[in-house]
Amino acid sequence: MQQIPAIGLGTFRLKGQAVIDSVRTGLELGYRHIDTAQIYGNEAEVGQAIAASGVARDELFVTTKIWTENLGAGRVIASLQESLQRLGLEQVDLCLIHWPSPNDAIPVAQYLGELLEARRQGLTAAIGVSNFTIAHLREAIAAVGREAIATNQVEIHPLLQNRKLVAFAREQGLHVTAYMPLAYGKVLAEPVIQRIAANHGASPAQVALAWSLQQGYAVIPSSTKRENLAANLAAAELRLSEQDMAAIAALERGERVANPDFAPAWD
Ligand SMILES: NC(=O)c1ccc[n+]([C@@H]2O[C@H](COP(=O)([O-])OP(=O)(O)OC[C@H]3O[C@@H](n4cnc5c(N)ncnc54)[C@H](OP(=O)(O)O)[C@@H]3O)[C@@H](O)[C@H]2O)c1
Repeated sequence: MQQIPAIGLGTFRLKGQAVIDSVRTGLELGYRHIDTAQIYGNEAEVGQAIAASGVARDELFVTTKIWTENLGAGRVIASLQESLQRLGLEQVDLCLIHWPSPNDAIPVAQYLGELLEARRQGLTAAIGVSNFTIAHLREAIAAVGREAIATNQVEIHPLLQNRKLVAFAREQGLHVTAYMPLAYGKVLAEPVIQRIAANHGASPAQVALAWSLQQGYAVIPSSTKRENLAANLAAAELRLSEQDMAAIAALERGERVANPDFAPAWD
């Protein structure tokens, strides 16, 4: 598997021309990792923007996610084939289980086993999970082995640092992807983040992203604006000091943005 590029482009909520424009601009600016999902209803437009970009397929890292309604027997593979058709790709680089089956109606071993079979068939180069708790990760490791799980994509930002889950992932050698790394804009208003940004001549968004990157997480911020897309990509060059990291660590307050009624019992 190709390594997951540390900075990716999120596409949640972006549809039609908005997602085409965001992906096109992102690819022009140098993004090479695009994060979509079946439920976003934008795979066809993401595929269209990729095709129009002229960027070589082997330079791109494309992730999609299997929606909860597609976790039943036969549906993981069939729905991934439908995703590939919409994306206009023969293979994605990474396919994630978007959420654990609501109420664990379908066992982890069943749908992850099928996702592993999808990898064997070449429909995806790597497989992984999203919104998995420690308990779900234990089941996943038991089912397919730690090496097979390329990442756990979870909500992480300065206001929700997910320390228990991260500690478990580190102990197991599992990679973590931080989704909603800006808490959908909420972290940008934090005075501590603003002060650190001013000290570095950077923006609050860059500080939030650098904080995640320095902990080894991949980040997948989304934006509809060229200047924000460019600034987010440049966050890789910002180095925060130990004092900066400690000040941001103190912002933890368990503020979860993505918490649908079918979410698992969080750690
Ligand atoms: N696995 C999951 O269950 C899951 C759940 C949620 C999200 N995700 C993934 O994570 C991605 C990111 O999450 P998200 O899109 O919800 O939220 P986010 O990336 O935390 O925040 C996006 C918001 O921040 C603004 N923004 C972005 N860059 C900025 C900058 N440099 N300065 C100021 N504002 C900026 C954007 O507005 P503008 O458009 O005005 O720039 C947008 O309103 C999603 O797109 C999706 O791919 C995954």
